[in-house]
Amino acid sequence: MTPEQVDAFVSKTAPGYENYSQFIKEKISDQMGGKLSPSASDLETRYYIARKLLESLGGSTGQMRSYDSNYKKLNAKQQAALDEIMKKREEIIVEFYNKNKNVDLSPILGRLTAAMECDLTPQNEPVRVAITGGAGQIGYALIFRIASGAMFGPHTPIILHLLEIPDEKAMKALKGVAMELEDCAFPLVRGIVTTDSPEKAFEGVDWALLVGAKPRTNNMERADLLKANAAIFSTQGQALNKVGRGKHTRVVVVGNPANTNAMITSVNAPRIPPENIAAMTRLDQNRAAYQLAAYLKADVKDFHNIVIWGNHSATQFPDIAHGYLKDKHLTDLVIDNKWLTNTFIPNVQKRGAEVIKAKEGKSSAASAASALVDTVRDWYCGTSGKWSSLAVASKGEYGVTKGLFYSYPVIHSNKSWDIVKDLPIDSFAAEKMEATHKELLQERDAVASLLK
Ligand code: NAD
Ligand code: LMR
Repeated sequence: MTPEQVDAFVSKTAPGYENYSQFIKEKISDQMGGKLSPSASDLETRYYIARKLLESLGGSTGQMRSYDSNYKKLNAKQQAALDEIMKKREEIIVEFYNKNKNVDLSPILGRLTAAMECDLTPQNEPVRVAITGGAGQIGYALIFRIASGAMFGPHTPIILHLLEIPDEKAMKALKGVAMELEDCAFPLVRGIVTTDSPEKAFEGVDWALLVGAKPRTNNMERADLLKANAAIFSTQGQALNKVGRGKHTRVVVVGNPANTNAMITSVNAPRIPPENIAAMTRLDQNRAAYQLAAYLKADVKDFHNIVIWGNHSATQFPDIAHGYLKDKHLTDLVIDNKWLTNTFIPNVQKRGAEVIKAKEGKSSAASAASALVDTVRDWYCGTSGKWSSLAVASKGEYGVTKGLFYSYPVIHSNKSWDIVKDLPIDSFAAEKMEATHKELLQERDAVASLLK
């Protein structure tokens, strides 16, 4: 959030205050008994602004704060009533955002609702997160970010369950990772489990991040990994089914080919609802946003509603037809069609292979870990009406075969998601969406034995 954006927001929602410093000095310091200095944490500022916003919308902070801690104690009827209230709150915020589009509140509102769900609600119960492939490249870039609070917010304690293969070298490397985690003395980390047993790793977990698998190297397509990796996900699906928390466990698959591996996991874990399992395509969305930002010389954060359809593979369809740069529809901006079809789309589709080439055989790791942080954070915190791409079990939306894990634009709220429906699809898009659909059908048929 830039100072200018905060100023704009403050002057809009807190009448009488023109800018951030005046607001901080006079109002927040006052509220906090004069204890808050102008350099106090962004979190406190956001808390105050969130409260202000909620009040101006007729909501109450108490309602918001008691939500997480009390939810688990309620009966099903009460939970349904609370769900309704929380849904309403999201709607109000989206409506507020739509009315104030000219002020470009999106970055602030995005963070505010994230703040509401994650940053502002101190949670006593630790979240248990399993990470497979803990000693791998992505694992090393991921685990420390989760431990620092980037995924579940700065007030959510975490217990890390790290899984590796039963191999002396891998387990030794995992021990090294755990030692470094201990040496970081992260205040949020309340426990570290290291194991080579999937059943131990997944016991009682809220989130399972399935990263561990073979990566591809030069001159391979991700589908070439199908045979090598598919069996991992049937074994891990069964273990999750047995020792996970059923409908309270959420799973994100990163190991390639991610979409089909997510389908294998889901079929092997019938106690976990299919809507709790997804494959990551956020890296592709982030790549698309960067390509656009570089081409249009704009800030990457100002792009919204960029969609990745289909498979996390070279057939995926990065689609800008519904996208915005701030409040400008991307199709109204001067974007050369040749650039779109000959540069943008192939660049996004083949970026993984380009990174492998550049890193002499090693696939992307820090960007994958970062995209996974974005994926889970959106799912956990909600996106206040903004779209994220996620590969989820299709129920036939946009003509996709039921049960395939196909990447769609989704909106997250209340720790779940809804596919953005009824988008207009022109013939160019329809063809691309069908090509990636066909590839997913072929992948499904190649692993038919693991789907029984
Ligand atoms: P890596 O080889 O550096 O690490 C993988 C780790 O997983 C290794 O330590 C290995 O021992 C472990 N592992 C293998 N099988 C396992 C199992 N059954 N249980 C637990 N651990 C196991 O690879 P990486 O670079 O970390 O990539 C991991 C996977 O993620 C690859 O399949 C890669 O293609 C994929 N990937 C996906 C995306 C995406 O956007 N979906 C992005 C980047 C990489
Ligand atoms: C990526 O997109 O970078 C990963 O899926 C790794 C790969 O094989 O491309």
